[in-house]
Amino acid sequence: MSTLQDHLTEVEGYIATTKEEVESFRLKYLSKKGILADLFAEMKNIAPDQRKEYGQQVNELKVKVEEKLTSFQSILEAAEDVAAGGPVDLTLPAAPMPIGSRHPITLIRNRIISIFTRIGFTVSDGPEIEDDWHNFTALNFPENHPARDMQDTFFIEMKSGSQSVALRTHTSSVQVRVMETTKPPIRSLMPGRVFRNEAISARAHCFFHQVEGLYIDEGVTFADMKQTLLYFSREMFGAETQIRLRPSYFPFTEPSAEMDVTCEICKGKGCNVCKYTGWLEIMGCGMVDPNVLRNCGIDPDKYSGFAFGMGIERIAMLKYGVKDLRLFSENDVRFLRQFAAE
Ligand code: DAH
Repeated sequence: MSTLQDHLTEVEGYIATTKEEVESFRLKYLSKKGILADLFAEMKNIAPDQRKEYGQQVNELKVKVEEKLTSFQSILEAAEDVAAGGPVDLTLPAAPMPIGSRHPITLIRNRIISIFTRIGFTVSDGPEIEDDWHNFTALNFPENHPARDMQDTFFIEMKSGSQSVALRTHTSSVQVRVMETTKPPIRSLMPGRVFRNEAISARAHCFFHQVEGLYIDEGVTFADMKQTLLYFSREMFGAETQIRLRPSYFPFTEPSAEMDVTCEICKGKGCNVCKYTGWLEIMGCGMVDPNVLRNCGIDPDKYSGFAFGMGIERIAMLKYGVKDLRLFSENDVRFLRQFAAE
């Protein structure tokens, strides 16, 4: 007579290749006159002190039998489906794994960085919470000067001290940090998020992204700036692009300018995107004011340089034809999915 251990060994090594075999295995162990019924009936003949252990072993065998049955039943059912041309076709490619796409702001930022790193610019970073020195004073904004109102600042109330701390209103603050810690020549790009206390609309938000650029060396001139920005504009908007510089004012540059590019959509003929002017304003720029160089420990008699700053959202809106700035921060996947990874 087979022992319990023999049954266990048999069940563990059991293999079925047809449904009939599975069925006879089931009957052999689980039917009313099957092995397990016999083993349970045997219980009464077992010495009372061994009954518990015996019961556990028979139960364990039953669980093994049931596991074998379920696994062979499902394998054979799947094989039958394949044979019948049914829903399981193991030769089909696996269901595609959905992959994400990059955010349009990231795409444009990376493009700007790649255009400038090709001509020797590095990338620098700075904090989003800034002190007054880096955001304003070092950049030649005199205290109580109305220019500070040009940028509606979110000030942070400090319990302890009098030092004024704010969310940076522009990435120009990173210029100061780079100049304070690096010896010229400096050629660096400073991308990042900035904050302004503006009413949220299709055209303005309380936070957005900028890329700042800074080039400081001996003998850098306005002509170098024009050529660099023309190169950037043609890489970004196409080889036919023209640029135009309009005189402007920023406390940290002298002279200062606003740069326009020819409208990529109408090629300068005039359309509703460029408001029928043929031109689109894309950045502020200028020669770094000698006061700023001095504030940052750079000798203005020896070095000169230019700086520029542009809004990433603005360029993304122009490149992708996005009409509402809010779409960039609402995280609607239907919007975000449209931007293929580059
Ligand atoms: N910081 C300016 C702004 O947020 C942009 C800017 C203008 C940056 C001229 C510059 C610059 O570096 O030279 O509006």
